[in-house]
This record gives sequence, C-alpha cells and structure tokens, in this order.
Amino acid sequence: MQTLVTPASPEAIRQAGQLLRQGQIAAIPTETVYGIAADAQNGGAVGKIFAAKGRPQDNPLIAHIDSLAMLNGLAAPLPDPLAGQVQALAAAFWPGPLTVILPRGPAVADEVCAGLDTVAVRMPSHPVARAVIAACGRPLAAPSANRSGSPSPTTAADVLADMDGRLPLILDGGACEVGVESTVVTLVGAPTLLRPGFITREQLAAVLKTPVALSPAILEKLREGETARSPGMKYKHYAPKAEVTILQGGLRAFAVYAAAHGRPGDYCLCFAGEQAALPLPCVAYGRAGHPEEQARALFRALRALDEAGAVRAFARCPGQDGVGLAVYNRLLRAAAFRVVRL
Ligand code: TXA
Ligand code: MG
Repeated sequence: MQTLVTPASPEAIRQAGQLLRQGQIAAIPTETVYGIAADAQNGGAVGKIFAAKGRPQDNPLIAHIDSLAMLNGLAAPLPDPLAGQVQALAAAFWPGPLTVILPRGPAVADEVCAGLDTVAVRMPSHPVARAVIAACGRPLAAPSANRSGSPSPTTAADVLADMDGRLPLILDGGACEVGVESTVVTLVGAPTLLRPGFITREQLAAVLKTPVALSPAILEKLREGETARSPGMKYKHYAPKAEVTILQGGLRAFAVYAAAHGRPGDYCLCFAGEQAALPLPCVAYGRAGHPEEQARALFRALRALDEAGAVRAFARCPGQDGVGLAVYNRLLRAAAFRVVRL
C-alpha cells in the first residue's frame, strides 16, 4: 500500500472523511498525539487499525466525537449522578485532552470496546481532528498512530516512520501541542484516574467535587496475572530501543553517576540547558520544572535516542505533581520501571 502524507488542507480533510466513510483508515493529528482513525461503528474498519498497529485485540480504543449529540448511542443512557458528572467534565474540559469511560451503548462496534461493557469517549480540540470527524459524520475510533509498543508519534514524520505502507493517508497538522496522550478517567464505579495526562487528577477532583482515585497501574508494574482496569496499562509501552534507566536525584549526582557508569553508545536524556554539565552525549526533553514542556518533548526525544543509535540512556527524573505525573508515567514505562535512587 502507498502511504500519502499531505498537509491537512480542506480538500485533504474531505478526502479523509470519504476514506473513513468507505471503511478505510487514516492518520490524523490531535492536540495530544497523532491517531489512526476509523469509523467507530464499522467493525471491519476498526479491525484494520489493530492490523496496522500490531495491537493486541483485547486493548480497547477511544471513540472521538465532535459534539455531545454524538454521545447518544455510543454510551448507554446515563443515570444520575453519572449524567451530571459527564456534563460537568464536558463543560470544563471538552473539547480537550480528556477521555471518559462510560457504560457502552449499541452504536459502537464491539471491536472498539474489545469485549468490555464500557466505552472510552473523548472530544478532541484539534481543528483538523474535529473537521475529519465532521467530514465523516460518525464517531472515530483512534488509538495513537505508533506501532504497538513504540512511543506515540507527535509529528506526521514520526507517524510515517512507523506506518509507511500500512495505511493510505496521513494528514499533516504539524507538531502536537500536548505531546502525551489524553487523561483517562473512569466514571463507572468510583471516579478513578486510569491514565494521567494534561488534565490533572486535581483538576478532575475539583470539577467532580469528589476525590479521584489513582489506579495502581499508573506507577507500578502489574504483577503476572493481575488484571488492569485500563488494558493499555499492561502492555510494554513507549519504549525506545535504547535501554532507559531513570536516575532519581539532583543534577550533580546524575553527572557523577553518568561519568562513572557511561560507556560508548550511552546517552543522557536530560532537561534542556543541562547538556554542558553532563559527560555523555545528550538528548533533552524540555526544561526542568516545566512539565508541560517535558510532555510536549518526551516522545520525540525517545525517538531521537533511537535515531542517534543510543544503546542505553540515563534519564533525568521529572516531578510527579500535576502534568509531571503524566510525564513520569510515560518515562517509567519507557524505562521498563528501572529507577535508580542516587
Ligand atoms: O490522546 C489520546 O487519547 C490519543 C489520541 C489519538 O486521541 N489516543 C490514544 O489511544 O492514546 P490509545 O488507544 O493509544 O490509548 C487508549 C487507552 C488505552 O490505555 C486503553 O486501554 C484505554 O485507553 N481504554 C480504552 N477503552 C477503555 C475502556 N473501555 N476501559 C478502560 N480503558 C480503556
Ligand atoms: Mg497508544
């Protein structure tokens, strides 16, 4: 299959909408990361996403909508207080980088929910994503546009690197603003954060006026046989080919450790501006203390390590507050939970 990369012009958006209505797949930009879209009501089309990504069949997808009206049928009719909670979250954060897990309705292909009785829904804010949903006229299932296991793509070039020959069309909408995938919160049962993102747990709790629990899978490795409430959390994720180790501590101790342990082929995954203080080649991912910047830069930095041929990488440790939790969660997976306290 030939893969066409094209700027997201109105004509290209129309073409994408038509492809999607015909049961094809296409890569589109969103404010978080690029996604591979398919008509969420067409099981055959959704199956093509799993094939293109090499994604395990039991990992469900997010349905992307461009209006609250599209929620009808996707989710089951919502009882109180669930309806009020969804309304409050939608008013505060939609369109935007928040995904809400709800009881599923009939108007979504089984393949999207992967056998669960729930459905993940998000209303993206990226104008191209919204225009493509509108052009197709249906909710779009869209996971991140990477091969399963590798870092999510934040540019059209990174989508092409993973997906060349695997899908017909990539709409180029420039670099993604947020850089990490949407926050996932379930409202089925007590509100629980399943995946941290740009919308923080504190922001969710303030709007819901109730505490939001933290799924243990966010910071801990699942034990063999343990079930994840968000199936995506159990897979190896975001991993570059380089072996990443997070070094927890200050810059001085980090530099000393890197000098003592570094070998040819090793890199530092550092914060911007720290390169001069470090004894190994460096790839930076945003400034220290600026978690939004780190989120925007992290996945590109992980891919840059591979492009540089890094064998191992010592990573500076982000904070874990606010958006920092999303950065730490992704880096922890990239490092296969290898953390050294200095
Ligand atoms: O920002 C995003 O959310 C991006 C862009 C493209 O919108 N999409 C994305 O999709 O990150 P994906 O498939 O890479 O991640 C979806 C996550 C997975 O961890 C999956 O297990 C979880 O959401 N998920 C989906 N449906 C679920 C459900 N019914 N219950 C629990 N978790 C669910
Ligand atoms: Mg993904």
